[in-house]
Parts: sequence; structure tokens; C-alpha cells
Amino acid sequence: MHSRDDTSAPAILAFHLADEAATLALGARLARVLHGGLVIELAGDLGAGKTTLTRGILRGLGFAGRVKSPTYTLVEPYAISNLYFYHFDLYRFNDPEEWEDAGFREHFNADSVCLIEWADKAAGLLPSPDWRITLSPDGEGRHAVLEAISTQGKACAARV
Ligand SMILES: Nc1ncnc2c1ncn2[C@@H]1O[C@H](COP(=O)(O)OP(=O)(O)OP(=O)(O)O)[C@@H](O)[C@H]1O
Ligand SMILES: [Mg+2]
Repeated sequence: MHSRDDTSAPAILAFHLADEAATLALGARLARVLHGGLVIELAGDLGAGKTTLTRGILRGLGFAGRVKSPTYTLVEPYAISNLYFYHFDLYRFNDPEEWEDAGFREHFNADSVCLIEWADKAAGLLPSPDWRITLSPDGEGRHAVLEAISTQGKACAARV
């Protein structure tokens, strides 16, 4: 018996990341399946590895420059081939008016991939994510769980 569910992606993927290099490698692996229009929440405590994973994604796509934490700027843009990547860190975000004023809403479009640390700080302003990747401590390393939430997120996760 074939049902449509037979071909649907697993909703959850899990990874053990023994060291920083493994986090970077996971980023490069995920980067190969990303496309415009995706919104990815990066969850996990301070120092969990969210920025490191983002660095792995950008490096995986050939970006050779510095990938610094946008803690104070709130967002750092990267143009890579025909896509824009917007790396948000909303830890210090506390003014909802700034969302419109700074033009953050326009960053969410079909030609961009948005990666968002501390998304809960802008709850109600952000579109619902396609993926949520949660990083947590695991011994000396990290545990990563990728939840594919939307239909397009599931299709993308199936290609990881
Ligand atoms: N798999 C791993 N095992 C051990 N250490 C790791 C791993 N992945 C990343 N790290 C280390 O964790 C530290 C913090 O990483 P990172 O800055 O990416 O965290 P973050 O989640 O972005 O934190 P913040 O919320 O403060 O922005 C870095 O020193 C990085 O080298
Ligand atoms: Mg960070």
C-alpha cells in the first residue's frame, strides 16, 4: 500500500556533534539543500553553537570572509551566488517598532534564507519557521535536533 506519507520526509533529524569541526561540517551538509524562501530558527542556550552552525553553512557555500556574531547589529547579511542569507541574533532585540523601521520584514522573501538566533525575542513578528534546529550540550560536544515544520521544510530535510 502506498500512501502519500510513504514519500514524506522524516519530520525530525538528530545529530551528535563531537566537536566544533562537526558543527561546521553539519552546517556544510545542510547548506547543500537550502534554497530561497527558507526560514530557520536556531535554538539553544548561550554558547550552544548556533553561530558556529551558521558559519558552517556559509563556509559550505563558499563564503570565505568572517562570520561574526550579529549580537549588537541584530542581523548580518551575506550575498552568496544568487541568494541572500540574513543571520539574525535577536538576543538584544527589545523594540518591536524597530522591526519595521529597520526593514527586517523585507529580509524574509523568496530570494533569501533567514537564520535566526533567539527568535523568541521577536515572537509575533517573525514568520513561522520551516526548520527549527536545537543545539544542546552533550558531554564535551553538542546534540543537534532538526525539526522540519513546514511542507517546504520537510521536502528540504528529506534531501539532507
Ligand atoms: N560540537 C561542538 N562541540 C564542542 N564545542 C562546540 C561545538 N560546536 C560549537 N562549539 C563551541 O561552542 C562555542 C560557542 O559557540 P557559538 O558562538 O556558535 O554559540 P551560540 O549558540 O551562537 O551562542 P550565543 O547565543 O551566545 O550567540 C564556541 O567556542 C564553539 O567553538
Ligand atoms: Mg550566536
